[in-house]
Amino acid sequence: MDLFSCYFFILFISCYGLAKTTTQNFTSIFSFGNSYTYTGNYQILAASAGSLNSNVEFPPYPYGSTFFGHPADRFCDGRLTIDFIAKEYGLPFIQPSKEKKCKFHPGSKLRLLWTTNLHGLRRKKLHCATQQQFGVNDYTLLLLAGKSVQDVTNSYAPQVVKLISEAVEKVINDGASVLAVAGQPPAGCMPVILTLFASSNKEDYEPDTGCLKEYNGLAMYHNSLLHQDVIRLRGKYPRVKISYTDYYYPTINVVKSPGLYGFIDTPLQVCCGKGGPYNFNISENCGMPGVSACPNPSAYLHWDGAHLTEAAYRYISSTWLDGPYAVMQIHR
Ligand SMILES: *[C@@H]1O[C@H](CO)[C@@H](O)[C@H](O)[C@H]1NC(C)=O
Ligand SMILES: *[C@@H]1O[C@H](CO)[C@@H](O)[C@H](O)[C@H]1NC(C)=O
Repeated sequence: MDLFSCYFFILFISCYGLAKTTTQNFTSIFSFGNSYTYTGNYQILAASAGSLNSNVEFPPYPYGSTFFGHPADRFCDGRLTIDFIAKEYGLPFIQPSKEKKCKFHPGSKLRLLWTTNLHGLRRKKLHCATQQQFGVNDYTLLLLAGKSVQDVTNSYAPQVVKLISEAVEKVINDGASVLAVAGQPPAGCMPVILTLFASSNKEDYEPDTGCLKEYNGLAMYHNSLLHQDVIRLRGKYPRVKISYTDYYYPTINVVKSPGLYGFIDTPLQVCCGKGGPYNFNISENCGMPGVSACPNPSAYLHWDGAHLTEAAYRYISSTWLDGPYAVMQIHR
């Protein structure tokens, strides 16, 4: 898995066990998506395919250093949004679905729920959590392959959103009762994008953020389509609680007013990286020898140039749980 090719297409769906009221704790949480929700499947798959020594930590230290004190199969210095949501509901850390010891909790209500049309999901061992990419389109790969942002926006974004919606329906048909469908972060503020697609034209940057306009436009367009589809699905499945959870606005708020949220006043700087205007170099990534992390990751928005810090995820997940950045708050 290429660290920097996978973060754009983020699908995070968590389906919790059926709860009579939303203040009740859920029994299970399932997560689908890319590196923003990654909790270890690649390591297990690569080790079993022989392409990665199972003793090799991926991603390596200093990933995991802030919270876990060691690499913890997460592209972050600590916990992810999914971990904060699990914590809120009294659930343990999300295990990779490929983990053999991954099992349903005894008495899980979800097991009872899924009496029909369960086989596909069962086969994929959705007992704990899983990360899957729905659809093969990956905006970053398309852009790196030379497609224009305009082209990706007009031709590909509707297809990507359609695939996400189909996946959401599949999970609903398999019994999910509460879902959170996440949009994209502001891609144009990501140091990897700012570096790879740096422009000499000042007009290409947003004056108030220093982020690349077009790439943020793509993310906003994707999000608006996804949001509309979530509204449509809510009408189609009135008994299911479907929330659109937004990465864009909480992240852009931090970029615009970092001090307000306890972050350093250069919010586009990477904590774990080396060189260049954003402390990010695609050839010298976080985790490589000679590349170190900042001493205060909790004051940074960006962890490695493509993923955010635990501090950022903590803030973002709070805006989903308590509002205002989930269209239907996950609880309360
Ligand atoms: C839900 O889990 C939290 C965290 O473990 C716990 O504090 C709370 O009491 C639980 N709530 C219910 C209704 O069981
Ligand atoms: C990025 O890393 C490469 C390889 O170490 C180096 O040659 C290059 O000068 C670095 N670029 C910046 C901007 O630091």
